[in-house]
Amino acid sequence: QIIRELFGITELERKLSDLLGIKEVIVVTGDTDQSGWVKKEMGRAGARVLQQMAVDNQVVAVTGGSSVLAVAEMLTPTPSLKSTTFVPTRGGLDEAVELGANYIASLMAKNSGGKYRLLHVPDQLSPEAYETLMREPHIEKTLAYLRQARIVLHGIGDAKKMAIRRKSSPEVMKKLEQEEAVGEFFGYYVNKSGSIVHQIPIVGLQLEDLDQIEIRIAVAGGASKAEAIKAVCALSPVHVLITDEGAAEEILKSS
Ligand code: G3H
Repeated sequence: QIIRELFGITELERKLSDLLGIKEVIVVTGDTDQSGWVKKEMGRAGARVLQQMAVDNQVVAVTGGSSVLAVAEMLTPTPSLKSTTFVPTRGGLDEAVELGANYIASLMAKNSGGKYRLLHVPDQLSPEAYETLMREPHIEKTLAYLRQARIVLHGIGDAKKMAIRRKSSPEVMKKLEQEEAVGEFFGYYVNKSGSIVHQIPIVGLQLEDLDQIEIRIAVAGGASKAEAIKAVCALSPVHVLITDEGAAEEILKSS
């Protein structure tokens, strides 16, 4: 703690918490854009928060992305997480399997000793396929779990990088550029002022469902994500933000 004070980290956390109106901000040293180990440190901080906040028989909803994956990788067997069920916030996006929410939910359960459910529903379904799948009991049950989530752990993406990662069409890329999208979370693309400018139709947790969730934890770092973090926090309240010095300094500088 003394070292964190000395390096001004606690001061950064205080300033960011005031600026973004977030109750708890955790800043790790370094910049994810510059070095891979910083993301691992964010993962370690995220794992610690999950372990500290755990209550019996809770549901934790998790999104995909490399930052949430870092949290999963840092989880260790935890008695308080044994009765936790990890549930993906959605089925699949056109991303690498290990960056998908299903894989991450299963890894969190494996590493912590908890349980998990999978959501075997691809995104962007035809209306007919959607209707049929929604009547499937296993899927219905997983969606019911999602709606009971006490905690949601999500990443925040840079709009352009996310669109490229998802192999979005040239039309979508153009729309995002025209609408000046800067950030992305849960398949929603947002502009600087926190308005949604594009949305990927998904089966799973929707923006309005977030209001019912007691604890919303975001994990995102790197100076390049400063705009994205500000935009997403303007759209939807975050209770705990785990970020890095690079993003924190850039957010404060540009405000
Ligand atoms: O939805 C946004 C993504 O979760 C961010 O992914 O952590 O790999 O940048 P990332």
